Amino acid sequence: MRHLIDPLDFTREEVDNLLDLADRILADPEAYQEVARHKKLATLFYEPSTRTRLSFEAAMLNLGGSVLGFSSANSSSASKGESVADTIRVVSHYADIAAMRHPKEGAPLRASRYSGIPVINAGDGGHQHPTQTLTDLLTIRRRTGRLENLTIGLCGDLKFGRTVHSLIKSLTRYSGIRFILISPEELRLPDYIVNDVLKAHNVPFEETRSLEDALPQLDILYMTRVQRERFFNEEDYVRLKNSYILTARKMELAPAHMAVLHPLPRVNEIELSVDDDPRAAYFEQAKNGVYVRMALIMTLLGLPDPKANQEV
Ligand code: NCD
Repeated sequence: MRHLIDPLDFTREEVDNLLDLADRILADPEAYQEVARHKKLATLFYEPSTRTRLSFEAAMLNLGGSVLGFSSANSSSASKGESVADTIRVVSHYADIAAMRHPKEGAPLRASRYSGIPVINAGDGGHQHPTQTLTDLLTIRRRTGRLENLTIGLCGDLKFGRTVHSLIKSLTRYSGIRFILISPEELRLPDYIVNDVLKAHNVPFEETRSLEDALPQLDILYMTRVQRERFFNEEDYVRLKNSYILTARKMELAPAHMAVLHPLPRVNEIELSVDDDPRAAYFEQAKNGVYVRMALIMTLLGLPDPKANQEV
């Protein structure tokens, strides 16, 4: 049985195959509408979510399956003190696959050890968010045609932003990747990622505080929200929340081929005027999330692809 807890749980080849499957589904969604008939997805969300939970549910419904679950810790037995280990043991009898989001780092990993069904990490604290990464990779590949030879700017809360951590980890497997890390000093990428991921794989990177300096060099700009819920005090959040705001004016500094990604939700980081720029890819990215999760559910459940071996 397979789980997806860490972005590196799938080999590069498996990720490439999954993205190919997502492309095939995008090209002909009707062909997939019965693929997961009679299968059930449980969404176990102990932390707020819009896109991740709803896109998982939409993905399973699009495949002809059904969904059950809870969307906050308060509405589950976690509020009575139940452990994730006990919850997943029980849910294993109610569903065929589970997606779990939890404020504690490592909770989905712990659940997977007690689970009788595949567990997907839908975000664990400030740690990892592998399905957002699959969404990001699909969006980058569909926009640029490749996952190699790219200069990628990551901007905002690089300390607490789990989507950033997972994306960096995944992209180290592709050649010619260079990162420009744009953040205030207090929100720099954690040392464990700088050392164990970037330096360990000889991935070139630079750190800067200036979005303006970075913009002309970028193929991809990945904007992020300052992660209010992970701050110890509100004052620090208020001081840092508007560190970077992408405006139509700043977009004039960026190459014509650049794509702007953002995992959403956006707070203030991207002015609404940027939405009409053809380089804005964040709503397309949210849409891609459904197709990549359809591909992931099929892969983890071992469901046959009705359009296997067909080029798109
Ligand atoms: C992200 C998350 O939950 O980490 N949202 C998402 O899943 N698309 C990003 C965020 O909350 O800032």
